[in-house]
Amino acid sequence: MKRSQINALVEKSMDFMLGNSFYLPEWAYWDRERWLKEAESCSRIFELQLGWDLTDFGSGNFNQRGLILFTLRNGIPGSGGKGYAEKIMIVGRKQETPYHFHWHKREDIINRGGGRLVFQLHGSTVAEELSDKPFDIYIDERKYRIGAGEYVELSPGQSLCLERGVYHRFFAEDGDVLCGEVSDVNDDVNDNRFLDAPGRFPDIEEDEAIRHLLVGDYAGLEGGSL
Ligand SMILES: [Fe+2]
Repeated sequence: MKRSQINALVEKSMDFMLGNSFYLPEWAYWDRERWLKEAESCSRIFELQLGWDLTDFGSGNFNQRGLILFTLRNGIPGSGGKGYAEKIMIVGRKQETPYHFHWHKREDIINRGGGRLVFQLHGSTVAEELSDKPFDIYIDERKYRIGAGEYVELSPGQSLCLERGVYHRFFAEDGDVLCGEVSDVNDDVNDNRFLDAPGRFPDIEEDEAIRHLLVGDYAGLEGGSL
């Protein structure tokens, strides 16, 4: 993805979140110069990979298949630190996050406002393919039995618990959705089993200066190359 597109998407997301009265930490709005100035006090933010993150899942078409998110809190697996994580995401209308499951992370996905959030769900087999068996899900702790591949919709305020090993893909209908995630510790490097998406982190073409750092930019900041 081009840096110009990333800069613009982060700015659009800031506006959308503020428009939904969702406020981020002060450093969410810092530019590159401020990060360079404050870096010494921010090692924990870098270590936990908190902040802006986006992906097109290797599709080359962010609007069709992509996601922008901000990780608010997290831990490091097995470190004895925080055992929980929180993200805020924007799911665009008809913008797909493709089928994946997590081996270790159980997550509640919450529609915090906007349009309807639509999931398609499947159990997984021992070989980590789609299962054809029905299974139970919980929406705000109410139990529902669904068939393999069934669609489930969340209106603003509703949340769905995604157990480990449950394949999920999702997109928004009617309008963009401000989407929360409360979960076990999040490890995007080792804990995503994608069914057919080639990648989680985008290759970036630096066609203009960085205005907003992504979590993937912290290494360059700490290494002095940014
Ligand atoms: Fe997930």
